[in-house]
Amino acid sequence: MIKQAIIPLAGLGTRLLPLTSVFAKELLPINGKPGIEYILDECIDAGIKEVIFIISKKKKMIKDYFYNDKFYKNIIKSKKDPRIIKEYKKILKYKKMIKFVYQNKPLGTGDAVLKTKKYIKSKFFLMLLPDDLIIKNNCSKSMIKIHNQYKSSVMASMSINRKTVSRWGIYKLKKKIDKKNFLIEDVIEKPSKSEAPSNKAVIGRYILPKKIFSKLLKQKPGKSNEIHITDSIQSLIKENEKFIAHIFSGKYLDCGSLNGYIKSTIEISKL
Ligand code: G1P
Repeated sequence: MIKQAIIPLAGLGTRLLPLTSVFAKELLPINGKPGIEYILDECIDAGIKEVIFIISKKKKMIKDYFYNDKFYKNIIKSKKDPRIIKEYKKILKYKKMIKFVYQNKPLGTGDAVLKTKKYIKSKFFLMLLPDDLIIKNNCSKSMIKIHNQYKSSVMASMSINRKTVSRWGIYKLKKKIDKKNFLIEDVIEKPSKSEAPSNKAVIGRYILPKKIFSKLLKQKPGKSNEIHITDSIQSLIKENEKFIAHIFSGKYLDCGSLNGYIKSTIEISKL
């Protein structure tokens, strides 16, 4: 069973400047609620019991946000506002399930994952990239179902415009399992148009095997001199580890770019 999730949160958020110059992008409000809470709610609804946040000293504000229960408690003492009481209970619930680890140098997503090595208990765990919001359908929940059925690793996926392949991890199909699930033959991080094996991109939800840590320990920096999780996934696939691409049915919102971030509030307000 998948009960643990990890969330890399040490990114600087430069694509969202000026909003992120003093503020953590994951706490920015999307339709009146910090973005990270959508991700946490997706985890809770998918049956996750423990979430590991990978933050940095610069992003300590995220920890402060979830450790602010005393502040709420004091307000509630004098002001019994049901809305604030509800928020207080929510914060307490989140706090209980979150563990914090640090990645102080932005060396890439693969390096962030490695920081959680000693905390992962089961053979598989979930990773969510907080820039990628998926609404209207719980993508993690659907992926966990696929994982339980095939006992394999799973990555969320969608078709993208070929012109944008260099923005994503792009994979090559091996076999169709059914309408929404494909076995992967290869995956390449941010390929050029000529390198790209398809227009199928990996989106920020992954069910990864614990085995990935031994690959990450040896992983050399790749594109932009970062340690990419995609490169370690590629090594595992080459050793016949089964990875399934799951075409999710929800709506994808890219909250890591300014345009996408603005659009996400509009889309969520329509729900
Ligand atoms: C990361 C992954 C990439 C994936 C993308 C999805 O890239 O490295 O493979 O396609 O998330 O959003 P990043 O957004 O960190 O550049």
